[in-house]
Amino acid sequence: MVTAGKLCGMRIHLSVVGAISFTLAWPIISVLGAEKPPLYLDTNQPVEARVADLLPRLTLGEKISLIHADSKFTTAAIPRLGIPRRWLDDGPNGVREDIGPDTWAPAGHTDDFSTAMPVGICLAATWDPALAYREGEAIGQEARARGKDIMLGPGVNILRTPLCGRNFEYLGEDPFLTSQMCVGYIRGEQSQDVSSCVKHFALNNQEFDRMNINVEASERVLREIYLPAFKAAVQQGGVWCVMGAYNQFRGQHCCENDYLLNKILKGEWGFKGVVMSDWAGAHDTRECALNGLDLEMGTDKKYDDFHLAQPYLTLLKSGELPMAGLDDKVRRNLRVMLATHVLDPGRKTGSLNTHAHQAVARQVAEEGVVLLKNENHILPLDASKIKTIAVIGENAIRLQAHGGDSSGIKAFYEITPLQGLVNRVGTNVNLVFSEGYRKDGGPELAKRAVAAAKTADVVIYVGGLNHDKGFDCEGADRKDMKLPYGQDELIQKIVAANPRTVVVLEGTMVEMDAWLDQVPALVEAWYPGMEGGNALARVLFGDVNPSGKLPATFPKKLSDTPAATLGAYAYPGTNGTVTYAEGLLVGYRWYDTKHIAPQFPFGFGLSYTTFQYSHLKLIPDAGTNHIVTAQFEIENTGKRAGAEVAQLYVHEDHPRLMRPEKALKGFKRIFLQPGEKQTVSIPLNQAAFAYYDDGKKSWVAQNDRFEILIGSSSRDIRLRDDFNLAEK
Ligand code: BGC
Repeated sequence: MVTAGKLCGMRIHLSVVGAISFTLAWPIISVLGAEKPPLYLDTNQPVEARVADLLPRLTLGEKISLIHADSKFTTAAIPRLGIPRRWLDDGPNGVREDIGPDTWAPAGHTDDFSTAMPVGICLAATWDPALAYREGEAIGQEARARGKDIMLGPGVNILRTPLCGRNFEYLGEDPFLTSQMCVGYIRGEQSQDVSSCVKHFALNNQEFDRMNINVEASERVLREIYLPAFKAAVQQGGVWCVMGAYNQFRGQHCCENDYLLNKILKGEWGFKGVVMSDWAGAHDTRECALNGLDLEMGTDKKYDDFHLAQPYLTLLKSGELPMAGLDDKVRRNLRVMLATHVLDPGRKTGSLNTHAHQAVARQVAEEGVVLLKNENHILPLDASKIKTIAVIGENAIRLQAHGGDSSGIKAFYEITPLQGLVNRVGTNVNLVFSEGYRKDGGPELAKRAVAAAKTADVVIYVGGLNHDKGFDCEGADRKDMKLPYGQDELIQKIVAANPRTVVVLEGTMVEMDAWLDQVPALVEAWYPGMEGGNALARVLFGDVNPSGKLPATFPKKLSDTPAATLGAYAYPGTNGTVTYAEGLLVGYRWYDTKHIAPQFPFGFGLSYTTFQYSHLKLIPDAGTNHIVTAQFEIENTGKRAGAEVAQLYVHEDHPRLMRPEKALKGFKRIFLQPGEKQTVSIPLNQAAFAYYDDGKKSWVAQNDRFEILIGSSSRDIRLRDDFNLAEK
């Protein structure tokens, strides 16, 4: 029997191997008239029946082999039962390059490229769950084409402090937006016979001391801010795998945290899939065995010495730990395999780097780029009226897709911002590139950039952060929120030399007060993936009307942020513990409630057209699950077609427990031609009004007056109305 994998340089896709084990091995026996194929191979049977049939066929050793790794990203095959080796891979933005079996070094394959999607925070900025579905679907197809079974994403940890090194990978600061986006992504990905693995469960909101930091947060904060996306992933997305976080919660590591895994995830939410450890996130055999871990990955030991390998086997054999616990873990692993058709002949085989995938990558970038400032309509640029553009800044030529660590992608190609501009303007406009700054400094670069700016009609400055460790990268947090490499001074000099300067920033939020007043236009491009340069150029020249909205507040300065204001115990922690002292006041909940003006608010993003909101009606919904539907009209009152993301926030008038000033509970992205008007309906159910009552240990929507706020951002509320909610 051929086993799946990459043995002796030979790559065999698992779907093919699965099919071989069924179509070759089984018919030989049937021809001899021995017996019918076993029930677990019968695709007409329900998954649970197949699991029940397969489980007792496994020996103790085989069971153990299914619950821990046998290389960095695989678990062992069981050839006699046709179970192939399972392949896991990062991550949220595409299918990561193959890693050597026993090290973190790349395997050196030549066929492990993939489509590099924009990063998670860019996807979130689209506010388009249907597009998230298409991204998930495309990544799922590429995963299958690369022979992967479980994809380690999406990452849904809430942006608590701008300093967290992995904010770029996640979906922003709001539990509702994060939930909607991850559900779309997961459904799309899992439609391709691949399991998603939502991560990192839970409260993994900083990279500083990430393997050990202990998080203390109140029950209410846990439920209202940090768990909703995971709950939605499980209950609405149907996610098959959950990755435990590295950090501790209330003194116990999250990968072996009884409360998070057994009580909440599996008990309350009814999760039937696999909990896997983050790589080296498992610490203790008994705790792993008893507290809900089903698959141990990445431990820094020989595979047989993993906690859920020999050490667990020893405790099982001596009777110190129950066999039922092992069976539960194995059952979950088999369930995920069978649900994703790992053993089935007709399993989807996927496709790689198709035009359709490239189109999704570009669309996510186009919808995710956020126009933050546009004075005197300097944008969009009109190529017919420009002779020379100075493109300045190292990020204009920097390849970003491979960076950030585990979420990096070996892209098939990557269109940088400069290349995108070249593609867009061709030979009609003279493009002059000047690097401007470099990691190791150089006033000469700045001088040359200023000279280039002086002679150009327009400057497009492309700077910001990058994926170097200490910026937007796994494993460390940022030290501050400043632009690196002297960019603050450089931008000031450039804009003094040429006031027609458009600033494009890549990366997550930075302080901008040194130059923001002086520049007429500002664009946030995040890390827009391998089609990013094309997308950016199309936005700058108006082929695409920008519609992205910030999925996280851009504060004016670090000292405005809760984690910085409250002291070291609130971030990055003291004596190994970080206390979430701001409680519910994360992101805009903090700035709104504390009346602190942000640089750019949550939900903000400009367009080249204008939208008018009108005629809000709150329609009580009798006889449905909904309590009320907010109905209103939006009209495109400008001259260009474009999309608007209408946002619905709820404010409670007299809450019994403190509540943030307002919270996002609905949104709708609509595309309108100039002059077109559409009616938008956003239904709200009880959850939109409920808070978590620690005392009652349940969600409560109390009898009170609620305001429904409809806006173009969290600080640009265009319509409001209120109604009384009867006690539920
Ligand atoms: C990261 C995970 C990732 C895993 C495997 C860990 O260090 O925290 O997000 O999936 O490595 O690469």
